[in-house]
Amino acid sequence: MEGNLIIKNANELVTCSGFKAKQGKEMSDLKIIYDGAVVIEDGIIKEVGKTEEILDKYNENDYEVIDAKDKAVLPGFVDSHTHFVFGGYRPEEFSWRLRGDSYMEIMERGGGIVNSVEATRKASKEELLETGRKRLNSMLAFGVTTVEGKSGYGLDYDTEIKQLEVMEELDKNHPVDIVKTFLGAHAIPKDYKGKEDEFIDFIIDKVLPDVAERKLAEFCDIFCEKGVFSVEQSRKLLNKAKEYGLKPKLHADEIVQLGGAELAAELGAVSADHLLQASDKGVKDMAEAGVVATILPGTAFSLKEPYARARYMIDQNCAVALATDLNPGSCFTESIPLIFSLATLYMDVTTEEAITALTINGAAAVGRADTIGSIDVGKKGDIVILEFPSYKYIPYHIGVNTVEKVVKNGKLVYD
Ligand code: NIG
Ligand code: FE
Repeated sequence: MEGNLIIKNANELVTCSGFKAKQGKEMSDLKIIYDGAVVIEDGIIKEVGKTEEILDKYNENDYEVIDAKDKAVLPGFVDSHTHFVFGGYRPEEFSWRLRGDSYMEIMERGGGIVNSVEATRKASKEELLETGRKRLNSMLAFGVTTVEGKSGYGLDYDTEIKQLEVMEELDKNHPVDIVKTFLGAHAIPKDYKGKEDEFIDFIIDKVLPDVAERKLAEFCDIFCEKGVFSVEQSRKLLNKAKEYGLKPKLHADEIVQLGGAELAAELGAVSADHLLQASDKGVKDMAEAGVVATILPGTAFSLKEPYARARYMIDQNCAVALATDLNPGSCFTESIPLIFSLATLYMDVTTEEAITALTINGAAAVGRADTIGSIDVGKKGDIVILEFPSYKYIPYHIGVNTVEKVVKNGKLVYD
């Protein structure tokens, strides 16, 4: 499914040009070409420039053509943190939270993640494929061309593998590219309560080796949180994961300041995510180590927690990415417009920074800044065309999808 395509006359061709994460001030520069055009051959971007120059050089008749007059054209969005493969739903927990129960209280009394674990263990592969496919369709309509997906609703060998296999199959059969993350240490399963060290050893000895050998995941993640897994347990698992060739990621400093951000820097993690409570030192360490700070404002919104200090992080020269965290518990949304609204209106992130955070920095958060996340020669032809002439309409048109067309590998896949 690879296309030969010219997109021409783009009012704003927002290239986000770059091949690595943008830190701090760099996040403001979207490298826009006005009246821009892109040439894609065999799914790969061949040339980027002013429409006039491109049409002088290339014969439109040899290509599919999209006329983007009065439209803004951007790189496909990269949603770099989701848990989109899961069984069942937890709407009653949402109602309990509205009444005042906290996410951790619900978890402590036996609900939360383990609730979805039961449903995911019971779900057949076909059911997970079906719901996963529907969620991918919805993400694609929001302009997402690459998504990261985590396991973590199995917490046993068979179901962790099943979730990863479902993502592998969806990746082959759906236009959205899927980056797979092994999150076997997402919660403590009921039969390991009080035996957290044993559970980490089980993950290390019994599941991780097969995940690595079968190349079922590129990343290994852990929920490093008070009452879940400690900094020591996280260090142990992620160091082992590195030995097996999986790159580390962390759910870090979400509810309690545990030192997850500092650990991410120490380990050279690709990203640390959530970070609502990250310390000043943790932020500084991450900026120095080049760890992408992935901010998930939908989760803070849904849990009614204070937002992560995205402004501070950018000012401290961090590379910030934004993602949905789509999951059945803390944040059941795949809405990119919601993420834009929250980041810009409540976190002091500019529209330009938010776009960088959802494109090239999202790509960096999944280790793919060299192949996706910007409109640059040599990258995949993954492109979003808005209904409006400027990227500025994205947060301005509150809560509404401004994406009109999506191109994946040079093929129009959503219109
Ligand atoms: O990223 N914080 C831990 N994990 C998920 C929530 C998963 C769930 O509640 O099902 C998160 O928010
Ligand atoms: Fe998450």
